[in-house]
Amino acid sequence: MMRAAVIGCGNVAGNHAAAYRELADVELVAVTDVDPARAAALAARFGTRAVDPQELFGLGLDLVSVCTPHPTHEAVVVRAAAHGVHVLCEKPIAVDLGAAGRMIAAAEAAGVQLGVLFQRRFWPAARRIRAALDDGALGRPVLAHASVLLHREPEYYTAAAWRGTWATDGGGVLMTQAVHNIDLLQWFMNGAGEAVEVSAAHTTVTHPVEVEDTAVATIRFAGGGLATLAASTAVTPGLGTRVQVSGSTGATVGLAEYPEGSEARLDVWAVPGAAAVSSPFGGGLVPDLDLAAINGSLAPFHALQIADFVAAVREGRAPAVTGREAAKSLAILTALYRSAASGHPEPVPTTREEIPA
Ligand SMILES: NC(=O)c1ccc[n+]([C@@H]2O[C@H](COP(=O)([O-])OP(=O)(O)OC[C@H]3O[C@@H](n4cnc5c(N)ncnc54)[C@H](O)[C@@H]3O)[C@@H](O)[C@H]2O)c1
Repeated sequence: MMRAAVIGCGNVAGNHAAAYRELADVELVAVTDVDPARAAALAARFGTRAVDPQELFGLGLDLVSVCTPHPTHEAVVVRAAAHGVHVLCEKPIAVDLGAAGRMIAAAEAAGVQLGVLFQRRFWPAARRIRAALDDGALGRPVLAHASVLLHREPEYYTAAAWRGTWATDGGGVLMTQAVHNIDLLQWFMNGAGEAVEVSAAHTTVTHPVEVEDTAVATIRFAGGGLATLAASTAVTPGLGTRVQVSGSTGATVGLAEYPEGSEARLDVWAVPGAAAVSSPFGGGLVPDLDLAAINGSLAPFHALQIADFVAAVREGRAPAVTGREAAKSLAILTALYRSAASGHPEPVPTTREEIPA
């Protein structure tokens, strides 16, 4: 049996605990939180122990999930690595590339696996698009678009003290929600090379926060691929997310996630020899879901990525999304914020420069 624990017992932690509990070769040994009441509540829900963070690494763990606020990821991941424990960290890997680099270096120095949760890559629709790109059905990916039109209640930002400030959240809709779609964009487009330059603008429309709740961006990839992004948490009812890719053959494929959190479906599949379209809104619009329902509906895809991570640890191979892979979306994000601040296009720092091998 592999011994696992969850660190940080807030909104998303239950998806990790539930996934570990379902795996026959994993024991969920403990959960921990700086707020003991939160740890106790999660432990009771999943029939495990709540322990103090200081006691955790005395329990002989093999792996941990890190479900704490983004700016705390570095300290928690580095500590786990120092104890020789494999780490699966929630997205975004960190809020700056220096921190991501230190996390990756700590895991590599300790010889432990570092994985980062981007469970939307595990949608069958996302895998089908990646496979179509690998098979050459689209040729070279040349054009992509992601739209992220979500709803959050103002209370989402006020319920946790760390949300909504530059210092403690690192950003708004781009850093916390659109990071998933930026990850998909770069995963689909990287056949055209890594992202090299971005332009962005952002604003705050309705939410009581200093970070952005609405943003637009363009991303240019080495090799000439282009992508656009529009993202907001100020849309009601939320209209979910979409990612579309067109290739040099002229073919276009795309997926749509509606409502937010549900399994995405292919809404456009127009490749040589096949043409199918469907509307994600065919069943009509649904009222906005609360956050617990959105996070809960993501659980099957957390379970798939967590199963991959456990298998990677067991087999001594890299997990599906490594720290280095997760740093690519963060590199794009840091350039987006820089461009929005400068008002000019900005280069994307190459993760190879910022995070030495
Ligand atoms: N993959 C996804 O779709 C998804 C969904 C939701 C959240 N997340 C990510 O998960 C992380 C947590 O988000 P959340 O919404 O669950 O936050 P949350 O505020 O609901 O929970 C965070 C918990 O971490 C605890 N904590 C803070 N610092 C800690 C530390 N040093 N050690 C132990 N516990 C600590 C807090 O007390 C809190 O209970 C974020 O990085 C977020 O981006 C990912």
